[in-house]
Formats: sequence, C-alpha cells, structure tokens
Amino acid sequence: MEEIEAQIERFIKEVDEHALKLYTKASKGKRLRAKLIIKIAGESESAYKLAAIVELIHAASLLHDDVIDDALTRRGSDSINALYGDKTAIMLGDILYSKGFMELVSYDREIAEAISAAVTNLSVGEMMDVNLSKSINLNQELYFEMIYKKTAVLIEATARSAAHLSGKDSEAFALYGKNLGLAFQIIDDVLDITMSDEQLGKPSLADFKEGKTTLPYIYLFESLNQQDTSTLNSLYKKELTLDEGQWIRAKMQESGAVLKSIELAQKLGYEALEAIEFDKNSDLERVMRDMIEREF
Ligand code: IPE
Ligand code: IPE
Ligand code: MG
Ligand code: MG
Ligand code: MG
Repeated sequence: MEEIEAQIERFIKEVDEHALKLYTKASKGKRLRAKLIIKIAGESESAYKLAAIVELIHAASLLHDDVIDDALTRRGSDSINALYGDKTAIMLGDILYSKGFMELVSYDREIAEAISAAVTNLSVGEMMDVNLSKSINLNQELYFEMIYKKTAVLIEATARSAAHLSGKDSEAFALYGKNLGLAFQIIDDVLDITMSDEQLGKPSLADFKEGKTTLPYIYLFESLNQQDTSTLNSLYKKELTLDEGQWIRAKMQESGAVLKSIELAQKLGYEALEAIEFDKNSDLERVMRDMIEREF
C-alpha cells in the first residue's frame, strides 16, 4: 500500500505543489479500490499505478460529491469544501480527475476506455441521485439504476481493468465488480442509518435529510401503517431531533427494512463470488467481506 500512497502523491506533485498540500490535508480513506486491483492483478508497477489512478479518480468524485451534498465531514475530518470552500474542492477535484485521465493514456485502450466511461456514468449517477432527491422516490428500479451508475460502475471498471492487466477473464471480473459495487452502496446506505457520526466519519442519518430515500427507506415505506407513514413523511428533508432520529432507527429495525437491505447486499456479494468461481481465492472473498461487513 505504501507504494500506492507514494505514487498518488507523485502524481499530484507532478501537477502542482499547492494541490498536493491540499490533498495531504485530507484523510486517506479505506483504499478499497486500490486493494481490489492488487488482489486481482497482483503486485506490479503497472498495477500500483493503476491503483493510484483509480484512487485519484475516486477522491475527485468525493470532493465533488461533498460539494453536491453540502457535506462538511469526510473520512473523519472536515471536508475540503468545509475547510476551503466549494471552489477549492471543485478545482482540486478537476485536477485529480484530469491527472487520472492523463495517466490512463499509457494503458491499453480497453482499460482507458473502461475507467473513463465509468466516470461519465458516475457523473450521470450523481445527477440522477440529486434529481431523485427532489421528492420521495419509492421506485426500486430507479434506485438500482442510480447506485449502479454512481458507485458500482467505477468498481466494475476497476475489476475489469485489473483483470485485463493480468490477462484474466475481464468479463467475469467485471461482473464480480458490478455486484460488489451494488452491495457496497447498499451497505453505505444502511450504515447511514445504523451507525453514529463518529463511526462513520461523516454525519449519520444524513440521507433522508438530503432527500434520499435509499433502499432501507423504500423497504420501510412499504411496510409502515398509515400513521407511521405520515410520521415518516413529515420527517422528510428535515433537520432531525434526537428523538426523531431514534424513531427512524427503531422503525428501521422493527420493520426489518435494515435486515432486508443487508440480506440483499449479502446476496449480491455471493453473486459476485460466483462470477469468479473459476478463480476464486480467499483474498477476493476477503475483499467482498470487507466491503459488506464494514462499519464505516
Ligand atoms: C464512499 O466510498 C463513497 C461511496 C461510493 C459510498 P468509500 O467508502 O470507499 O470511501 P473512502 O475512500 O473509504 O473514504
Ligand atoms: C456516493 O454517494 C458518492 C460517489 C459515488 C461519488 P454518497 O453521497 O452516498 O457518498 P457518501 O455517503 O457521501 O460517502
Ligand atoms: Mg455524499
Ligand atoms: Mg452524494
Ligand atoms: Mg452515503
């Protein structure tokens, strides 16, 4: 991992010292996408570089996401937009994105195309997320399309590219990455409800306040009686009091909405493993478990 950290910093330093200073102020994250590449492609210079590129791109997407979501905390610290304003977060995001694309040029066309197409999809997914947040969305199909685009597509492209790099079956690994990515975002949506601010490193119960009816909310709405439905409706897009937050958490547990979401994520996790059964190894199973059984 140190090689990858060093490579990320070299990439940013090649662009601009000030950008590097800003970048090093922010926390690093779990590096799940980098680990995924190394576990699929093995240790090599080109795998380290690809991992650094994907983490640059992922970091750029989070810089922009925190502006889009008005999020003031990220990875347990103040977000860049909270510290230096939206403009700085957007510009640093642009630098990381474009450096990532520049560096992709030295890879096979299949890899450069997969990763850059993933970023266009991610951006469409973010736009869809914002549009779906205007009013309560209970349409599961739209939810799955949105999380596929905003989150799973990059993980899918990452797994596909790592497989291509090491001469493995890229379609099979793409399917592994896709299911992993869907499961990963469902878990992100569950953790928003079940975890505390401290555990998450970002405010919890933020999604409903931002207008997002994530999968656990869709399941919850499906199961509530009329009175509870109108209570939940009245809390939509609201700054929640402690009691209101507790009420949502309790209903989420009572109704089984959280459990049902976790079970779907687990099912997708196993489907991910099935896609690479021929090459299944304990490391890739570990990556899947790390993504699903995480607490932040
Ligand atoms: C956060 O991704 C954004 C989502 C796609 C849910 P991660 O949870 O992988 O973020 P870091 O890199 O570990 O902070
Ligand atoms: C995932 O969406 C962000 C990206 C894929 C860029 P969220 O808005 O749910 O991510 P968090 O919860 O802020 O990490
Ligand atoms: Mg966000
Ligand atoms: Mg967002
Ligand atoms: Mg989230």
